[in-house]
Amino acid sequence: MNDRFSIEQRLPSDYFASTLRADARQGLSAQPKTLPPKWFYDEPGSKLFEQITELPEYYPTRAEQEILAQRAPEIAATTRAGSLVELGSGSSRKTRLLLDALTAQGTLQRYTPLDVSASALLEAGEALCRDYPALRVTAAVTDFEHDLALHDEPGPRLLAFLGSTIGNLDPAQRTDFYALLRRALSADDVLLLGADLVKDPAVLVAAYDDSQGVTEAFDKNVLQVLNRELDADFDPDAFEHRAVWNADAERIEMHLVSRSEQRVKIPAVDLSVTFAAGESLRTEISTKFRRETLTAELAAAGFTVRRWWTDRAARFALLLAVPSR
Ligand code: SAH
Ligand code: AVI
Repeated sequence: MNDRFSIEQRLPSDYFASTLRADARQGLSAQPKTLPPKWFYDEPGSKLFEQITELPEYYPTRAEQEILAQRAPEIAATTRAGSLVELGSGSSRKTRLLLDALTAQGTLQRYTPLDVSASALLEAGEALCRDYPALRVTAAVTDFEHDLALHDEPGPRLLAFLGSTIGNLDPAQRTDFYALLRRALSADDVLLLGADLVKDPAVLVAAYDDSQGVTEAFDKNVLQVLNRELDADFDPDAFEHRAVWNADAERIEMHLVSRSEQRVKIPAVDLSVTFAAGESLRTEISTKFRRETLTAELAAAGFTVRRWWTDRAARFALLLAVPSR
């Protein structure tokens, strides 16, 4: 760590213990069984996600990178941002295109990555401080669904939410998230949102069920998190990874399907969970968007979309939105 890099721990010290317990208790007693995707991202999970971004089938990262490479100078010129705040920043790899453009323009003073994964923030922050000698990095470990408080970041602030992580929230969660975001932003701040688009279901299913089994390992990693943190006895081999296109909700769903009837103990929450053969645990939704509906959803939340760009193959969109007057 150096004097240009800090990491603030904003989660209460019992966050993992209490929130994971509550999520496991609720999600595994529900019908159908579900778990929130934020629990994928312990250190191994964050590394597996980075491997996913390199897979031939997983196009979203490359598509968004293509748009950023083309549009970063325009984003810098339009926003003239004094700080870049990023939600769910992970490795911050694509962010470098924005940092390059904002640094070249001379307005940027600060980068504030926010993520639930402390290991991802630490690794990314150290690398960025090495590569951007004038940049101050003030990272924070936080859950963007509950805390989006911005502090003394110099304005105007560009708030980036890349990778289509917005799609991992269901409609009700997105409504709550937009409300929190709207309250956090001032009139001259700008939102940069990455959103994956509806396309051929075969392309989507392949992106979430790759031939090398990396997404399967990522999906099953959440069971290891429950084993480690809650003393559970999940056998990952007793579940099959499945990616399913839900045409009505226009989203990919990742499921872990029980190969046989089985009982799993989760002592930390005093639960014994029964799975029937073929019963599924839904571990993630990944919503795919259309321009009209996403623009309308943002308008209802108090944001006006000013720019909309896609990659050449129109697989992924990046938009700039401002708080509506
Ligand atoms: N933005 C990067 C990483 C996407 S992976 C990219 O586009 O490649 C999703 C990231 O969001 C992970 O780093 C994960 O740790 C983080 N994340 C997921 N849910 C979160 C939450 N509720 N609060 C904060 N970070 C979250
Ligand atoms: C982080 N998030 C947007 C990824 C997605 O595509 O929904 C997570 C992921 N799940 C499987 N592969 C990648």
